[in-house]
Amino acid sequence: MAFQPDIPYNDLPLLPPDKANWETLAVYKNLAEARAAMAELKGRMPIIPNPLMLINTLVLQEAKESSSIENIFTSSDKLYKAFASSTMDADPQTKEVLRYRVALYEGWQQQQNNGIDLSLIENVYRKIKDKNDGIRDSEVYLGNRYKVVYTPPCCYEILNEKLKNWVEFAKANDDIDPLIKMAILHYQFEAIHPFTDGNGRTGRVLNVLYLTQAGLIDKPVLYLSKFINAFKADYYRLLLGVTESSDWEAWVIYMLKAVKATAEETLKKLNQIFELLHNTIEKVRTEAGDIYSRELVDMLFVQPYCKISFLVNGGIASRNTASKYLNRLVDLGILELEKVGNESLYLNRQLYDLLSE
Ligand SMILES: Nc1ncnc2c1ncn2[C@@H]1O[C@H](COP(=O)(O)OP(=O)(O)O)[C@@H](O)[C@H]1O
Ligand SMILES: [Mg+2]
Repeated sequence: MAFQPDIPYNDLPLLPPDKANWETLAVYKNLAEARAAMAELKGRMPIIPNPLMLINTLVLQEAKESSSIENIFTSSDKLYKAFASSTMDADPQTKEVLRYRVALYEGWQQQQNNGIDLSLIENVYRKIKDKNDGIRDSEVYLGNRYKVVYTPPCCYEILNEKLKNWVEFAKANDDIDPLIKMAILHYQFEAIHPFTDGNGRTGRVLNVLYLTQAGLIDKPVLYLSKFINAFKADYYRLLLGVTESSDWEAWVIYMLKAVKATAEETLKKLNQIFELLHNTIEKVRTEAGDIYSRELVDMLFVQPYCKISFLVNGGIASRNTASKYLNRLVDLGILELEKVGNESLYLNRQLYDLLSE
């Protein structure tokens, strides 16, 4: 049956889509540019000594952007603070964004162990939504208050079958470039819409895990949500375009442009973080040589807020000494002291500005 907006689209075609619908010169031109940007990013990644530096900080920005596509809002400051603080009672939206980060992290572990499969997909969803259910057995629809634009397939059996096909396509050793596959997989996942909510965010976590699995990047650091947020109307329009008129070409090009822009921006951030790290090392070494150690400075870059227990747990200093170190760094203008309840948090202001700009 042809697609009708208000009837479950049980005839959503299985993957792969016909190449005639996407294999064009324009796609390959965009693919070449996106691949080049990815390769440059991958090659440059090792300059960051501690991978946690990038992962923690970038993941939180991604969590914020991806959630904001779904109208779940928090601020960079609340997020980084809540992440570092052990006592702060974050608001529900901030908590939801923090869970997105954990979902990504745990999904990554699972991907490394077993690859992307149904259990990984359900776990990512459960973590984001803080729920225990899985594939839905009830109808959902997409649209706004006035108009239904798309009704995903229903229910359990059919969703399960389509997801299985999705997993097989993701695993298949075919001749389709992984970036194009990611674009195809993302549309299909959203069109299946297997859960009652959280499908957008789960799908965007799967994007980065897929790229990691395909070896286009060694660690999950390529986050498309900022781009998608900036061009959100196109994102919705082009997803619908595939359903309504099999316009895979426009959708794939959109995703390739997202990859290129994001890889370039991530590379820029990486270089800026690296430069700031080295300036900070120099400054501490020359102006506070007595407290300098490389581990101390590295610790200031794992996340924007630092605190005494991070230094203690990192084996860098005892409690008393750690407090002296951090206060010296405040005197040097590298950190800013902020009280959250009765906890002292130390903000690496320049890193924070760099990440949240
Ligand atoms: N016409 C469409 N066809 C398929 N998927 C769509 C369409 N429009 C929007 N989407 C996807 O649905 C997501 C929203 O689904 P939802 O389950 O609410 O996810 P979340 O709770 O993470 O927002 C969007 O982010 C987008 O990826
Ligand atoms: Mg939602």
